Amino acid sequence: MLLKTFSEDKQWLAALAGEGSVFESDDPEDEQLIRALQRFAEGTILLLTRDKGLLKKCSQAITPLDFLGMEEERSLIDFIDLKAQQDLLRPALDKNIHRVLHHGQYIMGPEVQALEEKLASYVGVKHCISASSGTDTLLIALMALGIGPGDEVITSSFSFIATGEMIALAGATPVFVDIDPHTYNIDPSLIEAAITPRTKAIMPVSLYGQCADFDAINAIAGKHNLPVIEDGAQSFGATYNGKRSCGLSSIGSTSFFPSKPLGCYGDGGALFTNDDVLAKAMKEIRVHGQDRRYNHPRLGINGRMDTLQAVVLLTKLDIFDEEVAARGRIGARYSELLQDSVVTPFISPENTSVYAQYTVQVENRSDVQKKLSDFGMPTAVHYPVPLHLQPVFTSLRCSKKSLHVAEIAASKVLSLPMHPHLSEEQINNIVERLLNSI
Ligand SMILES: Cc1ncc(COP(=O)(O)O)c(C=O)c1O
Repeated sequence: MLLKTFSEDKQWLAALAGEGSVFESDDPEDEQLIRALQRFAEGTILLLTRDKGLLKKCSQAITPLDFLGMEEERSLIDFIDLKAQQDLLRPALDKNIHRVLHHGQYIMGPEVQALEEKLASYVGVKHCISASSGTDTLLIALMALGIGPGDEVITSSFSFIATGEMIALAGATPVFVDIDPHTYNIDPSLIEAAITPRTKAIMPVSLYGQCADFDAINAIAGKHNLPVIEDGAQSFGATYNGKRSCGLSSIGSTSFFPSKPLGCYGDGGALFTNDDVLAKAMKEIRVHGQDRRYNHPRLGINGRMDTLQAVVLLTKLDIFDEEVAARGRIGARYSELLQDSVVTPFISPENTSVYAQYTVQVENRSDVQKKLSDFGMPTAVHYPVPLHLQPVFTSLRCSKKSLHVAEIAASKVLSLPMHPHLSEEQINNIVERLLNSI
């Protein structure tokens, strides 16, 4: 039975074409297969066969029974298992990637626009502008809003470096605000006190897969006439009051880094807006500030997404709804099993989370991490140092005020393996290992 399921899942090797001259060999068919296998890096692929000749000739060949034994022995858990997803999608990926190799429009090929249309409709906004990463998207958004030297942008102190970094790279000053202790997102009740005449935007982060409190943030922004950029690098697919992340404010920005809820096979990102003027500006900035060929009314960057990444995303979009649902189920299951033992994620009633990270809090984090690593279980810390304490921002003379909630969170958070293909057995296994380590 296991073998049947396994072989149904792993049909994609059949999509490989044979190559080169193989007809002088004793067995051209075997030779073709061996050459196809050699295209893969050592250790990344195995050929399951009972053919004695192949087993002898090919170092990547293994019998199905030996393979099953090997899988059982291998109790290592992946932090994020991109391979399981790729196995499901491999035939479609191969086909779509080949289409790009054939038409050769690697930059801004037709699939880029097709992706933008699909993503805009998924998020429920007028414009999607695909881009080279979820870092470049933040810079493009800030540039489109004309933010630069002398300006301040209010943001959360508890995020990946790119959030504060792009504000500073645009020449503005990041003004870090503390977070809500339950959601880890910016605490809206602290935003107004941080607004000064220099404030030009608010940039909340939707951390770990759950949107920030946009009703409260947009109300403050509206009162002070400020645009809001959502850093939704971790929340693509999440909803807030039934509306999708990245469609909740003036501009939404996301990342398609491979490990994100929707990830490509390299760097990628996208911007979302309903504002025609901002959309035009962001499109131009993405291509060196160009409005028509070799005419540059503004400064820009090379911030395009390449066509190969666009087809990977188009292919993955086909199963994204199922994956988002699976992420929700897995996150809820973890919490059910762990809630009496550690601090589990709090998801606000208006939110659904895509659990880009499933993050708990533990007291003696480094001991716990060490024990888990000895058990063969990977964990990660998102993030050990809040942005206001990062050396780069100290030297940039940002506010040195202590932000207690972010500092405490940074000392306790621990992310567990999380991806939509985790089985119930794996979840139980991870939970058991964690409970034995705290
Ligand atoms: C909150 C946040 N912002 C921005 C980024 C940057 O995205 P990218 O890696 O695509 O540049 C990330 C990625 O890790 C992130 O988590």
